[in-house]
Amino acid sequence: MAAVKRVPFIAGNWKMNLDHLQSIAFVQKLAWSLKDANHDFGAVEVAVFPPFTDLRSVQTLISGDKLEVAYGAQDVSQFDSGAYTGEISGAFLKALDCAYVIIGHSERRTMHAESDEVVAAKSAAAVKHGIVPVICVGETAEDLEKHGPSAVPVAQLKAALAGLSGAVDIVVAYEPVWAIGSGLAATPEQAEQVCAALRKVIADTLGKDVADATRILYGGSVKAANIAGFMREPNVDGALVGGASLDTKEFSDIARFQKHVGT
Ligand code: 13P
Repeated sequence: MAAVKRVPFIAGNWKMNLDHLQSIAFVQKLAWSLKDANHDFGAVEVAVFPPFTDLRSVQTLISGDKLEVAYGAQDVSQFDSGAYTGEISGAFLKALDCAYVIIGHSERRTMHAESDEVVAAKSAAAVKHGIVPVICVGETAEDLEKHGPSAVPVAQLKAALAGLSGAVDIVVAYEPVWAIGSGLAATPEQAEQVCAALRKVIADTLGKDVADATRILYGGSVKAANIAGFMREPNVDGALVGGASLDTKEFSDIARFQKHVGT
């Protein structure tokens, strides 16, 4: 593969944790901790994904203090506006300067019955509003046993990309469901195998240039102690971190993986 420079991406999915007041203190502390450690944000991008109700506060803090931390939402509606009680439009997220939005997280696929078609429609909606979708795919332990390592994530990604074309800016997150919140992360080799298969799906559907430029993240029980192993793999460009993203020290240590990648 040609040497393509993809800026590593360390993303913190807060899930339903931290209210808007807590989010301000947290992002401030995270930014200080990274600044104290001389973190080079150009070399490793860091983003947080707070609950919707925090986004305005996070935007005000980040733009007011000119922090280099990026942010995004955890979901978006497939629709632009209308009678969709409880839904949030991509236009509203764009108005809050969200750069990213997580789409198709396994918790939404499971608890909110989000189908591959909905994930595709939401991904297209994000792109339409100028927001980069972080498209999540991943197999359950049962899928793994029945279909092997890549079949389900590959099928999910193919379906999610159905509404996209051209030189789109997307991020893909491979999150094996069995590794989420379990403390049992995939091995770097397992992650690499699936991430390489996902990159091939992107190449086949959106072309080689998009595939080369797209960051593919691993997610599932990532912590400071195991990030380096994942980041050594050629097709793993970052991590989508849940639990460990709620601790500023742990999360900034993950973002600073380059300091311990050789260890
Ligand atoms: P954990 O890091 O808590 O396993 O969660 C991963 C995840 O679901 C991130 O989206």
